[in-house]
Amino acid sequence: MTTPLRVAVLASGCGSNLAALIQARDVGNLPVKYVLVSSDRPAAEALRIAKAAQVPTLALSPKAYPDRRSYDLELLNHVAASGAEVLVLAGFMRILDGAALRPWVGRAINIHPSLLPKYRGLHTHRRALEAGDNKHGASVHFVTAELDGGPVIAQAHLEIRSDDNEKTLGERLLPLEHRLLPAVVSLMAARRLNLMKAGVALDGICLKRPLSLKEDYQLKR
Ligand code: GRF
Repeated sequence: MTTPLRVAVLASGCGSNLAALIQARDVGNLPVKYVLVSSDRPAAEALRIAKAAQVPTLALSPKAYPDRRSYDLELLNHVAASGAEVLVLAGFMRILDGAALRPWVGRAINIHPSLLPKYRGLHTHRRALEAGDNKHGASVHFVTAELDGGPVIAQAHLEIRSDDNEKTLGERLLPLEHRLLPAVVSLMAARRLNLMKAGVALDGICLKRPLSLKEDYQLKR
């Protein structure tokens, strides 16, 4: 058996993706050890979820820092000190500074509620509806200094219904996110994913397109 992957998670909000990661580990689907959950919002539900699961937490408010870079350097120093090998951004609502992020490139992933490269940034459900799209989804990508712009690893797809609104679309997508993110972390735990110059590689072979989450919740090329 391989050693559990040491994972740190950054989250700003409700923490449902964090809860899904913890649950996947608890049911034996994910050989990882959560070494830190940190939030920029001291009241974030994600911190409560982590504490309940006996995961070390750190609330670090940006208010005490003169600029983004100094905050991000401090935050990522804490992440490194936790012994994390991989960093997961699960609803972390800040853009990380490029210099602070450099040691983590290829080891940091983010989940974003759109089919990237469509709709980087906020209000993705609304924007998909306004564009008249008939498909929506979520993406997990390697984090780079570019907002939601790093190479995409995997996506979950969802048909948009004629009666969908922003709320229903978000509610229908979230359970897929809860499958997608642990599935990608599982590939990382198995040391099967790499970020190479040519893009994302699975088992050493570059992906021609992002992996896709299928109905059996497995990721397929
Ligand atoms: C998710 O939709 C995620 O894709 C986005 O922020 C939301 C976080 O939800 N980045 P939660 O805090 O995990 O419930």
